[in-house]
Amino acid sequence: MSFPLARPRRLRRSPALRRLVADVRVAPADLVLPVFVKEGLSSPHPISSMPGVVQHTPDSLRKAVSEAAAAGVGGVILFGIPTSKDATGSQADAEDGVVQRALTDVVEEVGDALVVMTDLCLDEYTDHGHCGLLTDAGEVDNDSTLERYASIAVAQAQAGSQVIAPSGMMDGQVAAIRRSLDSQGFSHLPILSYSTKYASAFYGPFREAAECAPSFGDRAAYQQDGARSADEGVREALSDIAEGADAVMVKPALAYLDVVRAVSQAVDVPVAAYQVSGEYAMVEAAAAQGWIDRERVIREQLVSIKRAGASMVLTYWATEAAGWLRV
Ligand code: PBG
Repeated sequence: MSFPLARPRRLRRSPALRRLVADVRVAPADLVLPVFVKEGLSSPHPISSMPGVVQHTPDSLRKAVSEAAAAGVGGVILFGIPTSKDATGSQADAEDGVVQRALTDVVEEVGDALVVMTDLCLDEYTDHGHCGLLTDAGEVDNDSTLERYASIAVAQAQAGSQVIAPSGMMDGQVAAIRRSLDSQGFSHLPILSYSTKYASAFYGPFREAAECAPSFGDRAAYQQDGARSADEGVREALSDIAEGADAVMVKPALAYLDVVRAVSQAVDVPVAAYQVSGEYAMVEAAAAQGWIDRERVIREQLVSIKRAGASMVLTYWATEAAGWLRV
């Protein structure tokens, strides 16, 4: 009988050994908390498909952001829901628009304790729920949408956004936003591009949270098709970097970890991954039934996203997870 000389189990024997040799770590500073702020609310409004997540009032938003900062979370990303929507999403770049006002508040509250980012898109602001302007035939028109994005970027910058994160998947959006920011004195402001974003059913609960379900059709004509190889995701990331993106994102996370890996190997800028609303909802739903160990599943998913190569993770669990990760 011959016994193995190599015994990988040696390094697994105790928690201390496992901790010593672990080389994938998730730190609170790697996490970004997405937050929703809705105009005209008198108290925070729970999102039924995302237990624990709410649409905020200005006050509850301040509180959530300062709790995130106290927990060591790296950043927050703001989504706004206006009371009035129209065909061009005019509230998105209104000086007193919901996100612009929230920004002023939040930046005043937390200063530089964490990074205050803004999602830049039109779907929360248009009455049709699409991420851009429509042609008469009802198609999302790329180039006129770019002009809207360029203007929204400046409105967010003027209100104090510290990172602009365009998520609309229009071709050329990073270049348009970069040029517009530069021309208005914001050449120092970074762009975190949702470069590699798939048309995904995992966004379902977000559409309740941000009240942005398209009133007709879907987003498959601008978001990516998951049945294309990861190379397309890499190409999207590289073209955004060429247009001036300072960091890129892959979204959703778990079902696209191969893409996270491919993008992170191909680029030399920070790569974020967005653990989206449907990923959150599935874990919460199974945990509520007692079918899985909630905290262990969340930790395992965060580690897997970092192991794939992401340096930042957008997650609705950011504040809570930061609490466990600090100890
Ligand atoms: C678009 C946007 C979406 C999400 C973030 N930005 C929705 C969509 O593309 O349909 C989804 C995030 C999530 O599901 O958590 N503004």
